[in-house]
Parts: sequence; C-alpha cells; structure tokens
Amino acid sequence: MDPRLAIIDRRLEDIGRVIAISGGKGGVGKSVTASVMALLLSKLGYRTGLLDLDFYGPSVHTILGAKPTLPEEDRGVVPPEVHGIRFMSIIHYAGENPSPIRGVDISNATIELLAVTRWGSLDFLVVDMPPGIGDTTLDAVRLMKGAEFLLVTTGSKVSLAVVRRLLSMLVELKVRVIGVLENMRMDGSSSARDEMEALGVPFLGEIEFDRGLEDSIGDVEKLMRTHFAGKLERVLGKVLSST
Ligand SMILES: Nc1ncnc2c1ncn2[C@@H]1O[C@H](COP(=O)(O)OP(=O)(O)O)[C@@H](O)[C@H]1O
Ligand SMILES: [Mg+2]
Repeated sequence: MDPRLAIIDRRLEDIGRVIAISGGKGGVGKSVTASVMALLLSKLGYRTGLLDLDFYGPSVHTILGAKPTLPEEDRGVVPPEVHGIRFMSIIHYAGENPSPIRGVDISNATIELLAVTRWGSLDFLVVDMPPGIGDTTLDAVRLMKGAEFLLVTTGSKVSLAVVRRLLSMLVELKVRVIGVLENMRMDGSSSARDEMEALGVPFLGEIEFDRGLEDSIGDVEKLMRTHFAGKLERVLGKVLSST
C-alpha cells in the first residue's frame, strides 16, 4: 500500500469539481482550453486551480506566460498563484529543461504531484491532460475520484476515432463525461456534433479556427479577448449548468 494514495484523497477533499480536459490527439487545443477555462472561472470569482499533467509536453505555463517558480513548502507544496489561479506543473521543478522523467516514472510523478500539492479549498480544479489513452488518463481516473472529463477534438476523422475509443474507456470506468467540444473548426470540415449525438454524449459546441489565437499565447489579456475565449465562455456556461 502506497501511503501517498491516502494523502491524495485528503489533498483533494476540499475541491468542488475536478474537470480533466482530455481528448485523443495532440495539438487539438486541450491545453488552450484548460488554460482559458481556468482563467474564465477565476474571472467569474470561482476559486480555481490548474494542474498540468502533460509531463512530456507541459504547455500551460507557455500559454499563461508563467515563469517557473519554486513553490513554497509548508506541510506540502503550495501552488504558486498565476493570474489568480493556483497553478501546479512539473515545470516548477524541471524548468524549461527536458523533463527528467520517463516511462514508469510518469505514473510516479503524477502520484507525487497529487500527494504533495496543497490546493486548499477550491471550487474548480482544471486538469490539462496529455494526449491519448495512456497511463496518465488511467492514473487520473484512479487517483482523482469523482473527476469529470471534458473531451476536445477536431472534426477530423483521425481525432474523432481516438475520442470514440477514449469515450468507451471512460464509460467502462464509470467516469462522468461532461461532453465533447469541437475545436479548430474550418469551413467544410466534418462535424463531431452528429456523431456525439448518435453516441448520446453531450455536444458542447464548436470553436472555429482562430487566426488571432497564436499571437496571444503567453499574453493573458490578449488571450481573453480572442474569439476562442468568447466561444469557450459559452461552452463554460454549459459546463456550469451540468452537474
Ligand atoms: N481554435 C483554434 N484556432 C487556432 N489555433 C488554435 C486553436 N486551438 C488551439 N490552437 C493552437 O494549436 C496549438 C496546439 O494547441 P494545444 O492547446 O497546445 O493542443 P493540445 O494541448 O491538444 O496538444 C497551439 O499553438 C494553439 O494556440
Ligand atoms: Mg496539451
């Protein structure tokens, strides 16, 4: 028995909702969605945490323009506050160096991060997940009991195929799926809507490909003024009304 597992339950006990932003493929917009959603929640006055669990490609700090800061230790680790969000990431320890962890150590790092972080009392913890149906997804489900999943996909058949597999896995694990968001929609691309409706999975909406988004990466004020953020705010309305 790993004593850290019991500690994790206590670390998470004062959190209202844990929302994992997941999806099949890399590059579909999971990290931008997780980051902007956390910013929107914080702007609405919710006490919000943001956890980057993508150890191979941590991106949240880049999107938020956050510098790695060694967190303060006080009966655990206190997540540094970034733009009003309590933000935890491996980059606080690894900096911009390549992550020194690999393979099985990833699972260990997930457990460690969840066991040490003192979130305190939060309304929402948003978790940025790595792509795919890997160990981290299974760990997240196992370690963060009651976590809900929001899946991001593009309309591409390839991305949708992975999302379908992820969905059936989550259903099998009895995980609550808030719904699926289609990102980077372009004219003429196929839509995820019909497929999700056929599967009985809530479709949360579409966000178009936004040419202004790239320019706002690292600049939170700009980011919040993008078309992307405007659209995500509507999606968030659906998330808030779904319990
Ligand atoms: N709707 C969109 N329009 C334009 N660019 C986008 C959109 N969504 C995401 N991107 C860009 O795509 C890239 C990958 O996004 P990211 O959130 O890191 O994907 P993931 O976390 O799924 O790998 C980023 O450079 C991001 O700015
Ligand atoms: Mg990502």
